[in-house]
Amino acid sequence: MKKLAIFIALLLVFTVVAKKDKEAKKAKEPKTDDSSKKEKESNDEIKVKTNPCQPTQVHIALSDAYTDAATPESSSIKVVFHTEELCKNANIVLHDPAGDKVISYTSVEQFNATYKKGDYSTVVYVFDLPNLKVNEIYNYTCFGGEKSDQVGPFSVHVPNPKPENKTTTVVMIGDWDTSELGQLTFNKLTEVLEKNKTEISALVHMGDFAYDLESQAGKRGDKFMEAIQPIAANIPYMVFAGNHETNFNFSNMNMRFKMPNFNNTQNHLYSFNLGNIHFVVYDVELLEVQPELLNITVAWLAEDLKQANANRAERPWIVVTTHRPLYCSKKHEDCMTSATRYPTIEDVIYDNKVDLFISGHVHYYERMFPIRRYGLADYEKVPGDVNNNYIKNAKAPVYILQGIAGHDDYPNHKKAAKPKEFAAYIDTTYSINTIKAFNSTHMLVENIHSETGFVSDFMYLIKDAPAPQLVEA
Ligand SMILES: [Fe+2]
Repeated sequence: MKKLAIFIALLLVFTVVAKKDKEAKKAKEPKTDDSSKKEKESNDEIKVKTNPCQPTQVHIALSDAYTDAATPESSSIKVVFHTEELCKNANIVLHDPAGDKVISYTSVEQFNATYKKGDYSTVVYVFDLPNLKVNEIYNYTCFGGEKSDQVGPFSVHVPNPKPENKTTTVVMIGDWDTSELGQLTFNKLTEVLEKNKTEISALVHMGDFAYDLESQAGKRGDKFMEAIQPIAANIPYMVFAGNHETNFNFSNMNMRFKMPNFNNTQNHLYSFNLGNIHFVVYDVELLEVQPELLNITVAWLAEDLKQANANRAERPWIVVTTHRPLYCSKKHEDCMTSATRYPTIEDVIYDNKVDLFISGHVHYYERMFPIRRYGLADYEKVPGDVNNNYIKNAKAPVYILQGIAGHDDYPNHKKAAKPKEFAAYIDTTYSINTIKAFNSTHMLVENIHSETGFVSDFMYLIKDAPAPQLVEA
C-alpha cells in the first residue's frame, strides 16, 4: 500500500510537472557535458520510407512483469515501433518456440507525436506480447497492416525475472550514438549479443542517446533508433534519461520508450528483476530540473530497496543506476556534484546495502572501491590480489562510471583523470561493461574495449552472505 501511495503521489507530481511552461524549462536545463554542443541540424541524411505503413525503429523492453509487484509464472515483453502515417491494421505476429503456433497482436496503445520545430510527425505503437515462457526464444514480425509492409522477423530470448541456478548477465553502456565513433560499440554489441543471446538478459543504456533524440525535430532520434534496431529489436533495451533528454519535459524520450511502471512514473523511477539481480533506476535528470522532487524520489528508493532487501536471500544482488555519477575522479564539475547535491540518495543506497552503483555521463570508464561520504569504505582484501580486482564483503557500495560507449559530438576524455583515493582503475578507450551475477556470493564486472574486445579491467564482488552486515561509518 505504501508503494502504491508513492506511485499515486508521483503520478500527481508528474502531471503537474507536465503542465509547466516547457520553454522556460528548456532555458533552465543543463547540458553540462564538458564539450560545447554542436547541433547537427543540417548534415544528417534522413532515411525516407517509401511506404508510410512500413514499421520502423522496432525496439523491445522488459514489461511490468519484471517489477517487484508481479511474480508471474509466464512473462511478457513490450514492443514499440513507428510508422509515418496512422495504419489501422498495424500488428505483430508472434511465433511460439516450436514454430507451430502463430498469434497476432494489435497494439495496446497508439498515438501520433508531433514537434513544432519542424514538419515532423510519427505514429507510435506499443505492443504487449503476453504469456511468454521464460528462457525460450520467440520470433516476431511487425506489420503496418499488410504483408507488403512487414519488418522482421526478430527474435527475443525471454529472460527469467526469477533467480535460478544460472548466471545472470546484463550489458551496460552509457552516452552513445551510432556516428563514426559510436559505431565501434554498435559492432561490439552486435557481436556480443549474437554470441550470447540466451545468456544476456538485457542491454541497459544509461542515458544520453543520439546527441540528441530531439534534434532535427526528432528526426535524428529516428535515425538513431532505426540504426540500432538490429540490436534493440532482439534484446530488451532498458533506458532512462540523460541530460540530453530533458528538453520539453522529457517528451521525446517518453514518446519513444515505455519502461516498467511507465503509467505511474514516466521512465523516471522504476525497478526490475533479472535472475539474481534487482535493478533500480532513478532519474537524476528529473532532480536537476525539478529539485523539489528529491524527497519523493528518496522515499520511492527507500521503499523499493526495502522490498528488495527483504528478498535478498532469494535475489542476492542490488544494482542502482542513473545517468550522473555520484563519484568519479575527473576534474569535472559533474564527477562529484551529485554526491554533494544529493546526500540523501547516497544515504538510502548505503543504508540499504546496495552492492553496485553504475552510471554514465562523464566520458570515460572508472572503477572505484567501496565509497562512503567521499572516502574509502572498508572491504576485505583477497590474498595475492595485486591489482585490486577483488572486493570482498564491502561495507559500502562499489561505484562504476561507464560513459564511454562513444559518439562524435563529445569524444572521450583522452587525457586520463588523475585518480582520486577511491579510484581502482581508469580507462579512456571506448568500451562496454558486462555484469555477471554467478550466484549469491560472486559477481563479475568487466570493461570490454569496443574496437578490440580486450578486457581491460575486471572486478569480482564477493560476499559471504547475500546481504553483508554493514558496520556504521
Ligand atoms: Fe550526460
